[in-house]
Amino acid sequence: MTDETLLSVGDLSVRYPGNALGIGHISLSLRPGQIVALVGPNGGGKTSTLGGIAGFGRRGVARAYSKSMVLRGRSISHQLPLERVKEGVVLVPERDKIFTGLTVMEQLKLSWQPRAGKFATCLASALDLLPEIEPHLNRRGGYLSGGQRQMVGLASALCAAPSVLLIDEVTLGLAPALVNRMAGILRRLGGGDIGLLIAEQSLGLAFEIADVIHVLDAGRVVADGTPDELRHRPDIIDTYVGRHASGTAARNTISEKAATSND
Ligand SMILES: Nc1ncnc2c1ncn2[C@@H]1O[C@H](COP(=O)(O)OP(=O)(O)OP(=O)(O)O)[C@@H](O)[C@H]1O
Ligand SMILES: [Mg+2]
Repeated sequence: MTDETLLSVGDLSVRYPGNALGIGHISLSLRPGQIVALVGPNGGGKTSTLGGIAGFGRRGVARAYSKSMVLRGRSISHQLPLERVKEGVVLVPERDKIFTGLTVMEQLKLSWQPRAGKFATCLASALDLLPEIEPHLNRRGGYLSGGQRQMVGLASALCAAPSVLLIDEVTLGLAPALVNRMAGILRRLGGGDIGLLIAEQSLGLAFEIADVIHVLDAGRVVADGTPDELRHRPDIIDTYVGRHASGTAARNTISEKAATSND
């Protein structure tokens, strides 16, 4: 990870029809190789934040405003979603990650962007990271399981050569073994040049892999910090996270055992 800022978002707000608040005044930044997680209760504003950064809300049902949205030193706040994809800001959406009528190969080709280089090279590196999808390349998306769709959604995003990857609930509906596998995949992605901003209900995964966590509730950031910093915030852990998910329970047990054995 470098100190260079990849993406900085200043005062992002999203409103829905009827002026309903999605999020209000959210600011965050992302460095290459960094994993930043958005966690919090349902309706907290995680999806709205990712959508606002992806450029949804400039036209359509939602309205998004920000004081600044800067990618590698250049403002992208005026850009529409497809223009942002071309700049490398790529969203893996919460649901409907794939087109059910297209084969997996067609979907990957559709997502491909010229900045990724040759499609064959980009396909090879997506399959290297996600070999589980190779047997399904010629199957239509509608025939895939939920977990397979998550993998294809992520592979499609990789074919767009992201520099900022926005991933909404990639562990949704995944079996525990696959959640562990996904943690490894995201860590590998985050270990490169890509900055990852992930919205996660799987708090165990967020605490395990994120460099920074923002806790969102009712459209506001109620706390942020590294996983270790948040583990020392009992107010936040008890209200929003739970001791088990944060790893705090396990750590307490270990330190209690250590204290007992020292007696
Ligand atoms: N299409 C919409 N129309 C009106 N209000 C919406 C719409 N989408 C989201 N909202 C509102 O915006 C707020 C934030 O929702 P958002 O979907 O961003 O939360 P979230 O943290 O992603 O929740 P979840 O964990 O359930 O996915 C909620 O109060 C929600 O009711
Ligand atoms: Mg959501």
